[in-house]
Amino acid sequence: MSRYLITSALPYINGVKHLGNLAGSMLPADVHARFRRLQGHEVLFICATDEHGTPAELAAAEANQDVRAYCDAQYEIQRDACAGFTLSFDHFGRSSNPPNHRLTQHFCEALEKNGLIEERVTKQVYSTDDKRFLPDRYVEGTCPHCAYERARGDQCDNCQRLLDPTDLIKPRSIISGSENIEVRDTAHLFLKQPQMQERVRAWVDKASEWPALARSIAYKWLDEGLIERSITRDLAWGIRVTKDGKPRRGFENKVFYVWFDAPIEYIGATVEWSEAGGGDWERWWRTDKGADDVIYIEFMGKDNVAFHTVSFPITIMGSGEPWKLVDQLKAFNWVTWYGGKFSTRDKRGIFMDQALAMLPSDYWRWYLMANAPESSDAAFTLEQFQQSVNSDLANVFGNFVNRITRFAAAKFESKVPDGGVWGPAEEKLAAEFFQRLAALTQFHEQMEFRKAAAELRALWVAGNEYLQVAAPWTAFKTDPAAAALGVRTGLNLVVLFAILAQPFIPDAAKTVLDAMGVPETSRMWPLASDKALLDALPHGFAFTPPDVLFKKIEDSEVAAWAERFGGGP
Ligand code: 2FM
Ligand code: ZN
Repeated sequence: MSRYLITSALPYINGVKHLGNLAGSMLPADVHARFRRLQGHEVLFICATDEHGTPAELAAAEANQDVRAYCDAQYEIQRDACAGFTLSFDHFGRSSNPPNHRLTQHFCEALEKNGLIEERVTKQVYSTDDKRFLPDRYVEGTCPHCAYERARGDQCDNCQRLLDPTDLIKPRSIISGSENIEVRDTAHLFLKQPQMQERVRAWVDKASEWPALARSIAYKWLDEGLIERSITRDLAWGIRVTKDGKPRRGFENKVFYVWFDAPIEYIGATVEWSEAGGGDWERWWRTDKGADDVIYIEFMGKDNVAFHTVSFPITIMGSGEPWKLVDQLKAFNWVTWYGGKFSTRDKRGIFMDQALAMLPSDYWRWYLMANAPESSDAAFTLEQFQQSVNSDLANVFGNFVNRITRFAAAKFESKVPDGGVWGPAEEKLAAEFFQRLAALTQFHEQMEFRKAAAELRALWVAGNEYLQVAAPWTAFKTDPAAAALGVRTGLNLVVLFAILAQPFIPDAAKTVLDAMGVPETSRMWPLASDKALLDALPHGFAFTPPDVLFKKIEDSEVAAWAERFGGGP
């Protein structure tokens, strides 16, 4: 038994997320959390909405709402959408909640005591037409590195480089569109990251088991050399800047930069969980309070890696306090919408709430994980979605379950039949089953989601092949004992397949396990290559055949969706 702390990158509050966001952090984190729980480990799975910064202010302004009211409403919407996808968070918090305010101010003060913060007068973009300083995201312009014309002041969406608003060529205010922009002096706090460069590198060097994508991105940043980064912004909504617990002079109109406080909310949300009666948060986060034996895994899209491998660790290490650092980072490439961008801003692609109104969450969960953007970007297309659902879920898994349970209901009074002796067909099945079970377990442990889904599908296929050979429907008349063995083995496979499917398609798996009368305590991840597993159901045990598990997606539905969501090449 180990203890797993699992966090998913925090979704921005600015509107319900699209399937690409879901697939790049929250969903794989959920699959892994479920897998580790099934293995019997103690798991704490944390997520929250990321509520500060310009995305929140801008979205609220667009919705004509006060920011607090906007965030309150959007939080509920996102929480419901996550519940609709059965994301099994132990807590879904809010970065605007008090624990994050306290912790963020605490970290900044601790960093300052350790000489890692410097107050500095900076040149900042000021819009004379808007009469205000413009924080990073309120400025757009041309990227100095790749010439992309819609680069934001904090990051270029095209080449992913982090930017400073003053780096932009031809900057303009996104409030008014005005190009009457000047540069004025104003104070900000800077985190002296270069002082921590060697410590961070040594830490990454030791983290040899990080998945490749996260590791390579971390080294790219370290090799380029860390720079001092401003951790405050000219905004009204956010976490106030303090010194010695009091408002900091000269910072009355400033708050912390959203990327400074957002990762701290991983801790903040755990405190929220604790305050809601969840348990002792320090046991998960303070290495002096028992967290040194926690295995901490973070899930995120590739654009988030720098913040999690460099900035947040610097905040944590630089505090000089015994906080838990991440052990494994699983990063993802993009899910694209027919090769182009899913876009919250341009409303391209399918969003979580829309998906749930179309089909049950398992359909989406399966497709997104079976096609996870692991080694490269992965295109979402409605046609591939239809193909994957109809083939993997309806034909291969659903059909297997329905065929054998119906037959057993019709010919064996919905009971697990007795009789028959294992022969070559069962031996061959067992050999393949245990070999694939070992591989499936390993892929889950390594967080290789595509491979895990492929292996699960291969198991389902092996079950169908077994039934093809055992053919209890033909044996029934000539050799009832052989038919009984075939049906019994098939029913055991139904249960095992559902147990193994739980991380990916929890609702369908539950339907099957409930129908088969499998108690909660017998739904754990199977351990050994123990042949008894294939004959575990008590002989004579009565069950109810489940209803059809998955409905096929019709061509007409695909056509209608393509029209609605702008599909097609
Ligand atoms: O990229 C994003 O969607 C950010 N809201 C992720 C924040 S992750 C964490 F650090 F809080
Ligand atoms: Zn660029």
